[in-house]
Amino acid sequence: RSAPAERSVMCRFRPLNDAERSRGDQSLPKFNGDDTVVLGKPYVFDRVLAPNSEQLQVYQTCARHIVKDVLGGYNGTIFAYGQTSSGKTHTMEGRLHDSRLMGIIPRIAGDIFEHIYSMDENLEFHIKVSYFEIYLDKIRDLLDVSKTNLAVHEDKNRVPFVKVTEKPIATCSRSHSIFLISIKQENVETETKLSGKLYLVDLAGSEKVSKTGAEGALLDEAKNINKSLAALGNVIAALSEGTKSHVPYRDSKMTRILQDSLGGNCRTTIVICCSPSASNEAETKSTLMFGQRFPLPSSSFLDLRSQSWPRSSSACPHCGRSQ
Ligand SMILES: Nc1ncnc2c1ncn2[C@@H]1O[C@H](COP(=O)(O)OP(=O)(O)O)[C@@H](O)[C@H]1O
Ligand SMILES: [Mg+2]
Repeated sequence: RSAPAERSVMCRFRPLNDAERSRGDQSLPKFNGDDTVVLGKPYVFDRVLAPNSEQLQVYQTCARHIVKDVLGGYNGTIFAYGQTSSGKTHTMEGRLHDSRLMGIIPRIAGDIFEHIYSMDENLEFHIKVSYFEIYLDKIRDLLDVSKTNLAVHEDKNRVPFVKVTEKPIATCSRSHSIFLISIKQENVETETKLSGKLYLVDLAGSEKVSKTGAEGALLDEAKNINKSLAALGNVIAALSEGTKSHVPYRDSKMTRILQDSLGGNCRTTIVICCSPSASNEAETKSTLMFGQRFPLPSSSFLDLRSQSWPRSSSACPHCGRSQ
């Protein structure tokens, strides 16, 4: 496992919560080594993180290497997938100002600034972030709630990074929330430029609608979520197969937005989040199945990287990497 793969699938189980424990729910999964979970049958992933995993360990396993790539001029995406209350938001955000419980996003922010402070003075960094959600295929900017249906362009909804943590933001588990960090670097002496983008995506809950449960607007909402998650799965699966010429990016707004950070020479990490409780067994199995859809591409990320890049001044169509 020394050469980092272009796509990786991590699986994280949360502990039983208080309600589940007080009901006497059983914890079902058994963990085998660091890459296998047994739930009826074994499921193998790049890494499996058992319920006792700490946030720091999750960060180091799932995200730290992506920060290096983005600072090196590549694009990347990290997704958290799973049913509602499986631990997606805990994994991506966690408790923001708590050094032990903070999740991937605040740790990434910290790492980026640490990196910048350690760099050569000739390097100038421009960092922009945006935070938006997709609900029923409409985009809403979460840093400026007055804008409700933004066009799919990057330039309009960016604000300076430092403002973000100041603002309490309510997100909804029925929408996909997307945090984008773009980093541009310029060496002021040599005028060489490098840019990379990182999308951090807390997906809408993947639970199935029960046959009798939802009606009307709720049913439309659930169908829309299932459709957009299926579209995402199809895009990543098509990219994993590698040989397929058609990647169905156009099937959902989210995959259209993420297009330049999923294909080509980008790094994608999917963290599938699972409940250990017997009461969630069916959903957990369906989450595990989703994670098993993506075989690793035959060529590793490093192999792709060693191919020479086109030396034009225009951006790579797959990655947006300039140079
Ligand atoms: N690994 C974990 N350790 C401790 N508590 C967790 C863990 N994962 C989730 N939780 C808690 O479980 C609840 C549901 O998690 P949350 O991240 O909000 O789920 P989701 O975003 O998938 O709906 C929250 O109160 C959260 O703090
Ligand atoms: Mg959530």
